Amino acid sequence: MKTIGLIYGSDTGMTEEVTNAIIEKWTLCDIDVFEASHVKNSDIEGFDVLFLGLSTWYDGDLQSDWDNYYRKFENVDFTNKTIALYGLGDQYGYGEYFIDGVGILAEIVIKNGGEIVGKWPTEGYDYEISKAEIDGENLFYGLAIDEDNQPELTEERIDTWLGMLENQLN
Ligand SMILES: Cc1cc2nc3c(=O)[nH]c(=O)nc-3n(C[C@H](O)[C@H](O)[C@H](O)COP(=O)(O)O)c2cc1C
Repeated sequence: MKTIGLIYGSDTGMTEEVTNAIIEKWTLCDIDVFEASHVKNSDIEGFDVLFLGLSTWYDGDLQSDWDNYYRKFENVDFTNKTIALYGLGDQYGYGEYFIDGVGILAEIVIKNGGEIVGKWPTEGYDYEISKAEIDGENLFYGLAIDEDNQPELTEERIDTWLGMLENQLN
């Protein structure tokens, strides 16, 4: 069985709620959870799979705890690790930066040798630009959740994404 670690950061509690739902719904194995405010690189080195969750703030910036952790995160070696990303954002209020944080983390993961799973269709969202969008593929690097505008879709999106991950991680 693969081992799964999860790192998340949340300013107003939205990403925390989504994280709790993910943990509750994931039944295949335990997930060890770390807050981005406290995590050390040595905490996460041993996991086969990492879930990374964050919101985007202030015109395309990482959530504050992730922003503080970023300089160390840049040094994580993701070789032989599988990464699944999920991000929260506001597609109408910040349509030029929608879930940019997912794209910023994905760039480091790819550069440092990780494999990304759980890529998610851009269909069903109305935004202008996103760093989380994969060039020419109509996919985000990870699950996009918009609690500000589409809260009614959140649970179904999480369920579908976790189903994808169950297949991709087997
Ligand atoms: C001042 C402010 C700036 C924001 N900037 C962005 C942004 O650049 N891109 C985006 O997608 N969402 C942006 N958002 C929306 C938040 O990411 C969204 O509300 C999210 O659910 C917050 O999650 P959290 O409580 O876990 O931090 C912003 C929200 C506020 C209030």
